[in-house]
Amino acid sequence: MADFRRSTIYQIYPKSFYDSNGDGIGDIRGIIEKLDYIKSLGVDYIWSTPFFVSPLNDNGYDVADYKKINPLFGTMADIEELIAKAKERGIGLMFDMVFNHTSTQHEWFQKALSGDKEYMDYYIFKDGDPKNPPTNWQSKFGGSAWEYVPALEKWYLHLFDVTQADLNWENPRVREELKDVIRFWKNKGVKGFRFDVVNLISKPNVFKDDTLGDGRRFYSDGPHVHEFLKELVADTGIDKMITVGEMSSTNLDNCIRYSNPDEKELSMCFNFHHLKVDYKDGNKWELMNADYRKLKELFEIWQTGMEKQNGWNAVFWCNHDQPRIVSRMGDEKNYWKQSAKMLATCIHLLRGTPYIFQGEELGMTNPGYNDISEYRDVESINYYNILLKEGKTQKDALAILEQRSRDNSRSPMQWNSEKYAGFSECNPWIGIPDNHKYINVAAQEQDPDSILNYYKKLIHLRKQYAIIQEGAIEFLYQKQPEIFGYKRLLDDQELLVINNLTGGEVVLQKPVICKGYAPLIGNYPHEIFGNTLETLKPYESIVLSKGIKSTDEI
Ligand code: GLC
Ligand code: CA
Repeated sequence: MADFRRSTIYQIYPKSFYDSNGDGIGDIRGIIEKLDYIKSLGVDYIWSTPFFVSPLNDNGYDVADYKKINPLFGTMADIEELIAKAKERGIGLMFDMVFNHTSTQHEWFQKALSGDKEYMDYYIFKDGDPKNPPTNWQSKFGGSAWEYVPALEKWYLHLFDVTQADLNWENPRVREELKDVIRFWKNKGVKGFRFDVVNLISKPNVFKDDTLGDGRRFYSDGPHVHEFLKELVADTGIDKMITVGEMSSTNLDNCIRYSNPDEKELSMCFNFHHLKVDYKDGNKWELMNADYRKLKELFEIWQTGMEKQNGWNAVFWCNHDQPRIVSRMGDEKNYWKQSAKMLATCIHLLRGTPYIFQGEELGMTNPGYNDISEYRDVESINYYNILLKEGKTQKDALAILEQRSRDNSRSPMQWNSEKYAGFSECNPWIGIPDNHKYINVAAQEQDPDSILNYYKKLIHLRKQYAIIQEGAIEFLYQKQPEIFGYKRLLDDQELLVINNLTGGEVVLQKPVICKGYAPLIGNYPHEIFGNTLETLKPYESIVLSKGIKSTDEI
């Protein structure tokens, strides 16, 4: 069995993790200093978001040099030390490969801008009327996806910020350059890769207006994407490494192909359908409460669909682009601890590889920024202006950002209760919420009942029990939207996972007959089990097991 099925991955956003030199910005030495903490979680890999040379218009997802380290974060020697010291602790590093686009400051783009034909063919330049972009496609960060370059009398495509120009993967030279980047980091001892928006790399042969949407249906899971991935993987020999693709607006069939081992593409996929159940009519910038019926349905479709065809999912609630899950689907005020643990339980016992985003293991919340000057993220600032233009008041626009901004996840890691949360000795690049006084690592390490210690248990359980790693999955309580329930099955072993998604007591439509089951983990004090389990307390999680065997016994 491939090692990634047994693993849990910890995601680091370096800029907000730990600042080792007091400039208010997290850095690579900061990660090195905290390796023992990461080791104490029991995770197997660290995925770090990019720290390469970049103007940081999109915090490093705008790479200007794939093989050099941004001095703001450290040096090549620091990176080498990080890889070596993580290895000593049995932790592998996964680097973030942003291959759909480069920064416009990248040497290739600069050469293209100077009219060098060879490098113009590295990007997607189109002729056209200076007043009329080649298509009506929209950038994911708002506005047209095309930018006009008067000196060249051409437009270039940027699906993200105007400083993130899309690469032309049809050009074999581009593909060779990117393979070379992978080989470079592989030689340095990197153990895996995360590929940023990798299902957007293959653009259609003909560029035309999208009369039904923003253009995404033409380039998501595009015509040559599987071919390109297979070639990249085969030519760099990364099929034996752990790899994950971030898939934007994808579908199940494509994700099966990306992740089925026979296809030799990737180990697993991130998909985001379950994180859109609180978007009104699919619009991230319209608030709505989460639709739990839909949430459960989506998990069932993806989990059972992937299982049937031997695909594999990354399972997650949080990352550097998503609001904090306890603020989003839990209750950070009344049931902070219970709801954070419940949400963790939902994910960690699923079929797939769980990812934990820094601070999630503490139940960190959205920071509650309520002035536009507190925001740093390019998407948030663009959309703030778009919302105002559309007629929203400042107050309404800020209320939307407060829940939807990507900066919700980017507030500094809360290490202790000191002034700057133990993150830095000076005022950090982005604000720290007051709740760091009680939501922090130091406090939770001391408390056996903390969210942190609960996460550690879940991580340990996955390592210990084959049923969590490779058991089949069956969903329960499909008709009861409040209950997120499923069963894992392996030979005659069984795991029963039942979660109350709500802040009220819930009577189970079908009581659980407890005979023969033993409690494995839960977020309320253990009680003596009666013969049946009939009601769940607010945000309660109960996990029962029958005959489960630890991997050592098998
Ligand atoms: C991915 C990253 C996000 C970035 C975007 C463009 O979605 O996770 O942070 O802005 O790609 O690279
Ligand atoms: Ca620093």
